Amino acid sequence: MQTFQGKVAAITGAGSGIGRELAIQLAAQGCHLSLADLDETNVSATAALARDTNPAVRVTVSTLDVADREAVFAWAERTANEYGKINLIFNNAGVALSGTAEATTIDKFTWLMNINFWGVVHGTQAFLPYLRASGNGHVVNTSSLFGLLAAPGSSTYNAAKFAVRGYTESLRQELDLMRCGVSATCVLPGGIKTAIARNARTDASIAALGIDPATRTDKFSKNLVTSASRAAGIILAAVRQNKRRVLVGKDAVLLDKIQRVFPSAYAGVIRLMMRRTYGI
Ligand SMILES: NC(=O)c1ccc[n+]([C@@H]2O[C@H](COP(=O)([O-])OP(=O)(O)OC[C@H]3O[C@@H](n4cnc5c(N)ncnc54)[C@H](O)[C@@H]3O)[C@@H](O)[C@H]2O)c1
Repeated sequence: MQTFQGKVAAITGAGSGIGRELAIQLAAQGCHLSLADLDETNVSATAALARDTNPAVRVTVSTLDVADREAVFAWAERTANEYGKINLIFNNAGVALSGTAEATTIDKFTWLMNINFWGVVHGTQAFLPYLRASGNGHVVNTSSLFGLLAAPGSSTYNAAKFAVRGYTESLRQELDLMRCGVSATCVLPGGIKTAIARNARTDASIAALGIDPATRTDKFSKNLVTSASRAAGIILAAVRQNKRRVLVGKDAVLLDKIQRVFPSAYAGVIRLMMRRTYGI
């Protein structure tokens, strides 16, 4: 996809962070937008920002939970009816949860998987028929640096993000074989300055790792170094270049290299980072 001008993009999690910046930058490039988020106020605010950026683009808003398969399919159908075509789906909505693998309850695990993994599958399956019909479509699925390497206290998040990466890499190979006019990119952000840490759920069980649940968010937030605006710019450039995957931020580029050279011993580097972040 050489240009976003005149295209139609759907974005989940558009009420904040990376999703909001994707919306603003796509609007600036002449792309019409169908925005969705669980938070009605925030997604409406994003729509206003996108319209201010470029009054020539059309922007619609939906309040929905990506974990709700039927709601995501209904949104895709509504978007296609409203715009006549859909070129891009950004399966960006996500949440974070910290806790030990041993103590995280199945309810909390399911909550996160339903959003971070199944939400991506719902968005991909709901939108693919419309992307095919457009003749020029792209699926953009957000995994994470934590889809490439693991860290203590992140087992649920790691499980979901590794799954998104596997799913999206397979999808891309299938789309290449099918030559159906649709492609896919897997997004692997490092630490991006957004509301993700503030919105994260912290399980008291991380105390067993020596991390104080009360101060975890503030300490973890210091690792969020890349701006959401820069992240969105990197992601959109990768989509235009039809990349299979895109590392977002210098931290992601460096840690990906370390993980590949030391696929097992990278845990020592994570250990040092934990010491620097939490003093453990
Ligand atoms: N910020 C980072 O450091 C970082 C790093 C790696 C990956 N990511 C991923 O990037 C994506 C975007 O995160 P962000 O950093 O912009 O976070 P954010 O918290 O700023 O934005 C996430 C948005 O998703 C929405 N959302 C949450 N649950 C939802 C649901 N069930 N249905 C619909 N919308 C829902 C939230 O309301 C919020 O507006 C997520 O998938 C996240 O896992 C972020």
